[in-house]
Amino acid sequence: MTFTPTKTLADQVRADFPILHQEVNSKPLVYLDNAATSQKPLFVLNILRDYYEQYNANVHRGAHTLSAKATDAYEGARDKVAKFINAASRQEIIYTRNASEAINLVAYSWGMNNLHPGDEIIMSVMEHHSNIVPWQLVSQKTGAVLKFVELTPEGSFDLEQFKNLISDKTKLVAVSHVSNTLGCINPVAEVAKITHKYGAKLLVDACQSVPHMPVDVQQIDCDWLVASGHKMCAPTGIGFLYGKLELLESMPPFFGGGEMIADVYLDHSTYAELPHKFEAGTPAIAEAIALGAAVDYLSNIGMDKIHAYEAELTAYLFQQLEQIPQITIYGPKPNAKGEGRAALAAFTAADVHPNDLSTLLDQEGVAIRSGHHCTQPLHRHLGLPGTARVSLSFYNTREEIDIFIKALKETLDFFAGFMN
Ligand code: ALA
Repeated sequence: MTFTPTKTLADQVRADFPILHQEVNSKPLVYLDNAATSQKPLFVLNILRDYYEQYNANVHRGAHTLSAKATDAYEGARDKVAKFINAASRQEIIYTRNASEAINLVAYSWGMNNLHPGDEIIMSVMEHHSNIVPWQLVSQKTGAVLKFVELTPEGSFDLEQFKNLISDKTKLVAVSHVSNTLGCINPVAEVAKITHKYGAKLLVDACQSVPHMPVDVQQIDCDWLVASGHKMCAPTGIGFLYGKLELLESMPPFFGGGEMIADVYLDHSTYAELPHKFEAGTPAIAEAIALGAAVDYLSNIGMDKIHAYEAELTAYLFQQLEQIPQITIYGPKPNAKGEGRAALAAFTAADVHPNDLSTLLDQEGVAIRSGHHCTQPLHRHLGLPGTARVSLSFYNTREEIDIFIKALKETLDFFAGFMN
């Protein structure tokens, strides 16, 4: 693919996404629920299909051609993921079913074995449930204490409060890079510096950053980072854990079974080298290969370009939303260029329930999410039962934002008439 500067990025890529070219409720689909899951380009879908049509075989096991081909593609995808996030070694990339499994891997393998009564884990109130519940389970078993960073008045991670909260008792900091609800981009490199000064470890939930901006694990200097394939143009059922090599080497296996062993005796086993030590059983082979294809697709466009285009859309979205008096948006404002936050907006609209908003917008073909977005503690912190959320991707257009805004205004007018 070559890119023409006169056309928007979306103009150039939309043909790659077959699902976008359909009607929903007799209206052209406007898909604005990208933080929940992204759509998949043909390039990725074809690679998924090629695997099953041409070289479906188990990996690492067979001394036959198809198995060797599947193994090469599966391991090749790992190289692509490692390069995409600038990991120092391919052994630092562990395939998981999703980001939740990646966090649970760290919680059970590292947390259960390294945390003791009185140790502290610092999270933030904006975390996704997947970066809270595993640590609650660990804390219940180990006696470690959970602490939470709150929000600045603008609705961002409160770095000053974090500096006051962290101490020699802190053993782990687990925070999101980008909030799926507030859209704030958290200063994870700064958090890493502070965390390491106290000898603690940092886990970064990068589900909402890896698909939208360049992410460099060495620059952040995090100890672990997790992401989910299905939010970055890959299929569901595949995600990954990045971990620093020495740390992963020091961690015991989480799942036991085939593939993760060196030798098995009746009474004990020895384990495979990284990354296989953490990949028990037949993995999601097709999905991992397709994740590699998604990385190729995104890299071919360029994450800088994706980030810049999404910032333009963010500026436009906020300009339009801010003109609607009934709307309150949560999280920090973007600057005039749309920078400084992610391309999403969680909002409430006067007395209209978010679920009613999403249902009526769906009638107009516009897909947004409503509810708690897996951040119940954050919504409770904000005193809200839920929000509506519009979340953009590089294949969205200004015209789609116009359709969304028009449908939103009509919906609000409808409710205003109904209430009068
Ligand atoms: N965690 C995903 C979201 O934010 C599903 O919608």
